[in-house]
Amino acid sequence: MVLVGFLQAQNCTNLPASWRHPQSRTDFLSADYYAEIGRVLEAGKFHLAFFDDRLAMPDRLGNDHAQAVEHGIRCVKLDPIVVLMAMGMVTQRLGLGATCSTTYYEPFHVAREFATVDLMTGGRAAWNVVTSLNDSEARNMGRGEVMEHDLRYDRADEFMAVVLGHWDAWEDDALLVDKRSGRFADPSKVHRLEHDGRFFTSHGTFTVPRSAQGHPVVIQAGQSGRGRRFAARWGEVIFTTAPNVAHGQRSYAALKAAAAEAGRDPDTMLLCSLVTPVTGESRAAAEDKMALLQTLPREIDALALLAEAVNFDFATKPLDEPLSDAELASFSGLQTIRDRAIEVSGKRNPSVRDVLQSSHRGTVDDAVVGGPREIADHLEELFTGHACDGFVVAATHVPGAYEEFVRYVVPELQRRGLFHTEYSGQTLRENLGLPRPAIGAWRTAAQPAPRSG
Ligand SMILES: Cc1cc2nc3c(=O)[nH]c(=O)nc-3n(C[C@H](O)[C@H](O)[C@H](O)COP(=O)(O)O)c2cc1C
Repeated sequence: MVLVGFLQAQNCTNLPASWRHPQSRTDFLSADYYAEIGRVLEAGKFHLAFFDDRLAMPDRLGNDHAQAVEHGIRCVKLDPIVVLMAMGMVTQRLGLGATCSTTYYEPFHVAREFATVDLMTGGRAAWNVVTSLNDSEARNMGRGEVMEHDLRYDRADEFMAVVLGHWDAWEDDALLVDKRSGRFADPSKVHRLEHDGRFFTSHGTFTVPRSAQGHPVVIQAGQSGRGRRFAARWGEVIFTTAPNVAHGQRSYAALKAAAAEAGRDPDTMLLCSLVTPVTGESRAAAEDKMALLQTLPREIDALALLAEAVNFDFATKPLDEPLSDAELASFSGLQTIRDRAIEVSGKRNPSVRDVLQSSHRGTVDDAVVGGPREIADHLEELFTGHACDGFVVAATHVPGAYEEFVRYVVPELQRRGLFHTEYSGQTLRENLGLPRPAIGAWRTAAQPAPRSG
């Protein structure tokens, strides 16, 4: 079972109200805050610490930042790759992942940043490939509005080819650093990329040699049909959501099949399902913690996060009025939120309140509450039922929620033989059981998956 910590380089966890939790640390602007979270995750043998990111604060509600800032709704966002390094410097085995957008950066830049982190951490880096969601991000990055959903993914496909092309530049034994002969590296083993495509051109020789794990692990979390085809083609660790075992099993089987159709070995792709545990020494203790947590969220948290996620200004709409077909069609961000609201409410035109309730954004409503046994039972059912290969564990507050998970749940998972008791290797790939990629292997394996899913 793979465990990933779902982190934010900001003032709160995935739960925006978390900063109001009595046990939340408030020094989120310090390196020590992130170092401590890293130490806790590594003590619990987590495979990976992963930093989520957006390139804007959630200011789509009323197109104003006032609410986000007033209520601390994910309004601080530090650069996750820089924060990652702070965590990397105090850990030895923990994998280190961060999000970076294919829509707003150049492939060479992203390839170089993550390859550098990979070297500086001894082969522990991972990149979560996202295509970004909303107009606030577009405006911060000098564009008028966010690019159309599927076009973003077409562009991302080519982005990956350029990044991987650069990561292939240095063969493993290219570096010589032979002071006596004066030969620094073997030029026949360092290759120039010549890429001319629909979206990108990149001509040149990459400047970062290969790391101990070859290149960073690629993470992806596409949920739409187009997003899943992208994930099946490129993703090595896939973040997913499974509302129940049957749903998880269906999407697990579909994604693994899509990877096989794309010419990949499905076993080289690990699906991690999102879970928010609330735990303690017993079920009663966990329920007490949940009772406290439920007092923290405010409706404004959810509204701001939803407006951000679907790229629609909910301030223009009374809460209980049905959203029109045109309004629903204009949701250009996370389309699964709209689809789920329609499914759960049973209405063709759900209201804003329906969307709020079915999305669980900004609340702890979808948390799994229990003592070590109950939480382990829940994870075991999904894992052994082939609904996932592991979990991306979100926290209700930090570092407390991870401390509790590591103290109570990890030993129970280990006792059941579901989770490793020690890191098996040095690099992230070794610890995940993923193969070290051969140079150029992606060119034959990563074919576009057929348009079925
Ligand atoms: C666990 C998890 C983490 C995610 N992290 C990010 C992130 O850091 N930044 C981001 O813009 N999107 C993030 N996403 C959103 C996905 O990249 C993706 O856009 C979303 O699931 C919708 O799928 P689609 O792009 O195929 O429509 C995350 C999704 C999940 C499930």
